[in-house]
Amino acid sequence: MIDQLSDNTILITGGAGFIGSNFIVYFLTKYPNIRVVNLDKLTYAGDVNNLSELSNNPNYTFIEGDICDATLVSKLFHKHEIKGVINFAAESHVDNSINSPGQFIKTNIEGTFTLLEAARNYWKGENYRFHHISTDEVYGSLGENGFFTEGSKYQPNSPYSASKASSDFLVRSYHHTYGMNVVTSNCSNNYGPKQHDEKLIPTIIKSAIKGLKIPIYGNGKNVRDWLFVEDHCKGIDLIYFNGVAGETYLLGGNNEYDNLTIAEKICEFIDLKVPKSNGGYRDQIKFVEDRLGHDFRYAIDASKIKKELGWSALESFHTGLDKTVDWYLKKYQSI
Ligand SMILES: NC(=O)c1ccc[n+]([C@@H]2O[C@H](COP(=O)([O-])OP(=O)(O)OC[C@H]3O[C@@H](n4cnc5c(N)ncnc54)[C@H](O)[C@@H]3O)[C@@H](O)[C@H]2O)c1
Repeated sequence: MIDQLSDNTILITGGAGFIGSNFIVYFLTKYPNIRVVNLDKLTYAGDVNNLSELSNNPNYTFIEGDICDATLVSKLFHKHEIKGVINFAAESHVDNSINSPGQFIKTNIEGTFTLLEAARNYWKGENYRFHHISTDEVYGSLGENGFFTEGSKYQPNSPYSASKASSDFLVRSYHHTYGMNVVTSNCSNNYGPKQHDEKLIPTIIKSAIKGLKIPIYGNGKNVRDWLFVEDHCKGIDLIYFNGVAGETYLLGGNNEYDNLTIAEKICEFIDLKVPKSNGGYRDQIKFVEDRLGHDFRYAIDASKIKKELGWSALESFHTGLDKTVDWYLKKYQSI
């Protein structure tokens, strides 16, 4: 572990969102000597209630603000003597990037640049850590076979993945040009508690329980590799402390399923947990017009992080989905 990172203050961006909030709770529980400053703009996707269990934690500070605000970001580095950054903040929904790409360029590219500049100016060559969180979508789409590896070619297809790819390249360039201690991790689709309703799994559960159409794009055959968010948090922890500067690590759950199968599996869980008097939830599944430019398949070969850092996804898809369905049922049945 990098010793200078183990007792200081880290800036986490986008920590009120899905993965960031799960990560902060995990991280502060595991490391009582580390202080976290969470900078989040609280867009429609951010929710401070995701962090309510930290309200009395003296090691946690929340700052509402934009990662593109250079003055604010620089002030935070100085005031809190920031020694590490984990950058989760992003516009993250592909559909929104198709309808309205501008904010994706601003937050995902300009925001990452602003953080890198603040770190470069404040750290002045010191070997602290900048960990950039990215996506497997930067690699484009796979056919029926094969896996993405760290050596795969960048071929982003949506404005979202193109903006993430651009930010990955900026981070890479700060290592190559300035020798900054950066790591990047690119992960597959996460699932678990606290994800925004707009994403696939919460949408399926919410639509099912509210008696609405469960919308599935196209023919439902698009494949994603699902990673339980807690497994992702453990991987980020390992990479942040132990990853080699300048390197990229891919994380996946080894759970490849097409969207229709995901919807059917969730309906089976809900059939058991909240039985309907007439028929099953599966009857609510309806195909809708496909997403523009919809990538067919993503799948990850995570052997590098397994071999070098000893990480692997531990949650089975069955148990992870069971926990996830329970969490959203509780949420949606109470509103
Ligand atoms: N969810 C996934 O399956 C997945 C998969 C691969 C990679 N990622 C990446 O992981 C990161 C986190 O994803 P997520 O699913 O938690 O996203 P999310 O949309 O749930 O959360 C994003 C958070 O960033 C905040 N934010 C947005 N713009 C900001 C800005 N300009 N300044 C400060 N804060 C801002 C939002 O308020 C929100 O709290 C993103 O970088 C995303 O690209 C996510």
